[in-house]
Amino acid sequence: MLKGKTIVLGVTGSIAAYKTANLASALKKKNADVHVIMTKNATNFINPITFESLTGNKCLVDTFDRNFEFQVEHVSLAQRADIFLVAPASANVIGKIANGIADDMLTTTIMAAKCPKLISPAMNTNMFENPIVQDNLTKLKHYGYQIIDPAEGYLACGDTGKGKMPEPEVLLEHIIKEIAFEKDLKGTKVLVTAGPTMERLDPVRYITNHSTGKMGYALAKNAMLRGADVTVITGKTATAKPNFVKVIEIESAQEMFEEVCNNFPQTDVLIMSAAVADYRPKNQANEKMKKKEGDLSLELERTKDILGTISEMKTNQFVCGFSMETENMIENSKKKLEKKKLDMICANNLKVDGAGFGVDTNVVTVITKNEMVELPLDSKEKVAENILNLIQEKRK
Ligand code: CTP
Repeated sequence: MLKGKTIVLGVTGSIAAYKTANLASALKKKNADVHVIMTKNATNFINPITFESLTGNKCLVDTFDRNFEFQVEHVSLAQRADIFLVAPASANVIGKIANGIADDMLTTTIMAAKCPKLISPAMNTNMFENPIVQDNLTKLKHYGYQIIDPAEGYLACGDTGKGKMPEPEVLLEHIIKEIAFEKDLKGTKVLVTAGPTMERLDPVRYITNHSTGKMGYALAKNAMLRGADVTVITGKTATAKPNFVKVIEIESAQEMFEEVCNNFPQTDVLIMSAAVADYRPKNQANEKMKKKEGDLSLELERTKDILGTISEMKTNQFVCGFSMETENMIENSKKKLEKKKLDMICANNLKVDGAGFGVDTNVVTVITKNEMVELPLDSKEKVAENILNLIQEKRK
């Protein structure tokens, strides 16, 4: 995912420095070229050899290291960097960068770098809340630096509060968001529905389906990584929600319908990947069930066809539906494409290995009015990327 990318990690003197070793390792596993620059104080918390072993690159500490290669190291690294993250960033180094002080390898290199620059402050809560530190952070934001909000929790100094460096996985997500994809969806508003809907029969029982939301979340994540402004309307699932997207949680088809209607007018692309329950009980807390124990006959009615209704509100939105079929997949999907006035439908054959609910892979045939593209069996992430590529192609 990060192949060919040069990532510079700046490590300063904070106990959280040891966590950056895990980040360096995770980035390396994603095939990035990782370079670490430490302040002298950071070397009191973690040894440069740790980073050198993990990254395969020399860990830079002192600007005046005589053991350098031909190029002026801080300038050449600054030029090559696709992203520069300072994590953990101490109050001292934040203050130096914000005020134009460049007196060591880290601060000189970041001053020479033109790539996106991220700062992850890590310090005691009182230090973090100190107005001088806050002013410095505001100044950095003004100059285009991104500040990663510190987490709250138990701090190494014994206090509890804001100031913890986020976990390496979170920092990794920030880096991926910045550089993993071209921002070809920048300025595009994407609305994704995901997961199952749940129709309550009574306070205990409900109708639902096996949807885990994985396909919808993968679509939302890929759109977000490509720079889109993403909203996900999701039914209840145990799957981790994607980061950096707006998540609206709903329960029933009716609630999903209302949220889709609220958001649709300001949407550019709607992807309806939710598995909407087709039926709901006509009367909740069915009296018959209560009176006659054992009599489970239920009077059901169809849930509102969300896409069918949305097509009436359509102006210039691109609408992509999904279909789950067990037989006549192409024929049935084509009918749905027409009936629901869709621009595209992604057909899943539930009987094919590696497709459908729960699994991490999918096999999808993408159908538009004039074309049919069979996407190969792949991870839901890759399938999502391919679907969004096709959507982009068709929107042009
Ligand atoms: N869908 C919807 N509203 C519903 C049911 C489904 O908007 N009440 C959407 C789904 O999110 C999907 C598409 O319609 O994008 C096709 O869903 P599917 O369940 O295959 O279609 P149905 O119209 O419900 O037809 P079927 O009778 O095959 O279930």
